[in-house]
Amino acid sequence: MTTSMQASTPSTGSPAVFGGRRSAARLSSGLLIAPSILSADFACLGAECRAALDAGGDLLHVDVMDGHFVPNLSMGPAICAAVHAAAPDACLDVHLMVTDPAAYVEPFANAGASHITFHIEAVHDPRPLIGRIHALGMSAGLAINPDTPTEAIVPFLAEIELALVMSVYPGFSGQKFIDRVLPKTRALREAGPRLLRVQMDGGVAPDTAPACRAHGCDLIVAASAIFGRSDYAAAIRALRGT
Ligand code: DX5
Ligand code: ZN
Repeated sequence: MTTSMQASTPSTGSPAVFGGRRSAARLSSGLLIAPSILSADFACLGAECRAALDAGGDLLHVDVMDGHFVPNLSMGPAICAAVHAAAPDACLDVHLMVTDPAAYVEPFANAGASHITFHIEAVHDPRPLIGRIHALGMSAGLAINPDTPTEAIVPFLAEIELALVMSVYPGFSGQKFIDRVLPKTRALREAGPRLLRVQMDGGVAPDTAPACRAHGCDLIVAASAIFGRSDYAAAIRALRGT
């Protein structure tokens, strides 16, 4: 149920809009495309980030993996800080796929993050961490793995700015889109407040993006569908459906 009451009753200090105090004003209200730098060429990461933004990417998605919550290691705060230095105006959307997200909120805030999403599967009670993220001026998101029902995060939708639906089992880019998660996007769109961003992450490509958009997703993450192509602008247009 979407109500203005929900949208106006966030937890203490909530930025209320995706992007937090640092980036919210620069993001449009429509569909956003977030290139995931997991598939960028790390040997020239700064240039890759700028190229993705110049090509029409609205923000950058930073996948953080600890080798424990997921079977892969990726990037830490130092990489995030380097990306922030290379693209200081960009909204940095940090996706924590880690067993102990509380340990990384301050380090990523200090590294220039605008937004932090953590997994509901990793915490008992997300509220204290949502509050800490907000207190640091960032927006907050909750993610659900493909086998986690939406009910796990519905009680918190009025306190967060983004709900992330994983459409692959997290850990790697380049996996196949799991289309049975699509109804979850629709359910979160209908259950959440008006300003809630509903993000799809994993296997989103020009052939799967239309279904994401049709099910209420307004923030598409894509790694291989952008950085795996030679023309980033064409890839981003294809994801937007324009
Ligand atoms: C997967 C990550 C995704 C990943 C998406 O665990 O959370 O953000 O980078 O990669 P693609 O778009 O290639 O599936
Ligand atoms: Zn991600």
